[in-house]
Amino acid sequence: MWAEGSALSTPNAGLVARFGACQRPRCIACANCPKKPMSLDHLPGAPHIAYRGSQLWIEDVRLGDLARSHGTPLFVYSKAAMLSALAAYQRGFAGRKVQICYAMKANSTLGVLQVFAQAGCGFDIVSGGELQRVLAAGADASKVIFSGVGKTREEMRRALQAGIGCFNVESEAELEVLSAVAQAGGHRAPVSIRVNPNVDPKTHPYISTGLKGNKFGVAHERTLQTYQRAAALPGLQVVGIDCHIGSQITEEGPYLDAMDRVLDLVDAIEAARIPVRHLDFGGGLGINYNGDTPPDAGALWTRLLERLDARGYGDRHLMIEPGRSLVGNAGVCLTEVLYLKPGEQKNFCIVDAAMNDLPRPAMYQAFHLIVPLESHGGAPITYDVVGPVCESGDWIGRDRPLHVRPGDHLAVLSAGAYCMSMASNYNSRGRAAEVLVDGNKVHVIRQRETAIDQMRGETLVT
Ligand code: LLP
Repeated sequence: MWAEGSALSTPNAGLVARFGACQRPRCIACANCPKKPMSLDHLPGAPHIAYRGSQLWIEDVRLGDLARSHGTPLFVYSKAAMLSALAAYQRGFAGRKVQICYAMKANSTLGVLQVFAQAGCGFDIVSGGELQRVLAAGADASKVIFSGVGKTREEMRRALQAGIGCFNVESEAELEVLSAVAQAGGHRAPVSIRVNPNVDPKTHPYISTGLKGNKFGVAHERTLQTYQRAAALPGLQVVGIDCHIGSQITEEGPYLDAMDRVLDLVDAIEAARIPVRHLDFGGGLGINYNGDTPPDAGALWTRLLERLDARGYGDRHLMIEPGRSLVGNAGVCLTEVLYLKPGEQKNFCIVDAAMNDLPRPAMYQAFHLIVPLESHGGAPITYDVVGPVCESGDWIGRDRPLHVRPGDHLAVLSAGAYCMSMASNYNSRGRAAEVLVDGNKVHVIRQRETAIDQMRGETLVT
């Protein structure tokens, strides 16, 4: 996969992992080739995830100790890393009226939601299940916004009863249904219409959402008519406008383009005497998986707000919906090396985590850096790191230089977002346990799933 690859050997040896330009066209980890060299001295997640000597630590806890005491596969998250990612956004928005709504699809574990709820965040949800979870985690319902193209009537009813802050409506058909459901329950549903600005986010096609060919949002050309219809419907109250153009965006250009397109629409909607109270610019900011260099959230928003000010919208209520950039680099997945299998064409390093725990490589050919929890030094061998699932697509990393022995532990980095929340029970594998680290304190926030847990709710036919 890599044009040029060299050793990932002893940590702290300076620049030890240097990758050349990726050969895979539009690989999700490689939108911005050529890559910056990766350094084990500055891993994704640093300074909260870092080597001290030969051991990998998360905050003040040695990851090797967690692997031994809690078993593997194990997701481990740094609370400080999440809060510092949030703080970057807060710096960018200092002095503004803003509601940061964590897009909980990135990681919806209760203990993670609780961190953001306690920090005062709102939440972006996409299902009734997410609504129930976020309320269970202590969120303020009035700070919850509900996105998604296929909300059911039942989900709308529950969200109205809970008193959520806004429905991000994605089609004209949905507007009609929401109005009817709200009226029947004696509510007026607060709505924002999700605009599809037709802007290329320059990311992997599966996670690009703001192009004409995507299923999301209302076409730019139909937006004004849709607002006029919304304003006329008795069960609705127009409160905002929103857009979200994609995920793992590593450039500022697409954001600026989308913002301009949205503001052009606000001009037109307000000229039609429909006030738009809040502006929601979605999520999508990328993280460093493999030398990616997305802008810092604070710096990005400082620049976007300059544009907003220049267009006279700087004092509006603002919302954003970041997911990955708040949790992605705060988490790792620990796994144990089960077997080494040398081969003629490939060497395989078979580990106990698999595509059911870490679906992103199989789904998007995504790159996650894989590093040892404890280095032995010595010459690395190039392996494909694979799981036990019975599919050739069950790989976690390809062509990775590693010096490992069976029984060693590895960390799959940048695993805080879209890993556990996308995990499955394929091959009847129980989902991994999860641990939240806060300084030197370790909290188990999800028990390892057992076979009995998996069979709950199933019955034999008698
Ligand atoms: N708002 C809306 C309406 C969204 O659809 C999404 C993500 C977000 C916010 C949060 O985007 P973020 O800040 O996390 O980029 N499973 C894929 C990512 C799918 C993203 C879907 N929508 C992956 O693993 O890369």
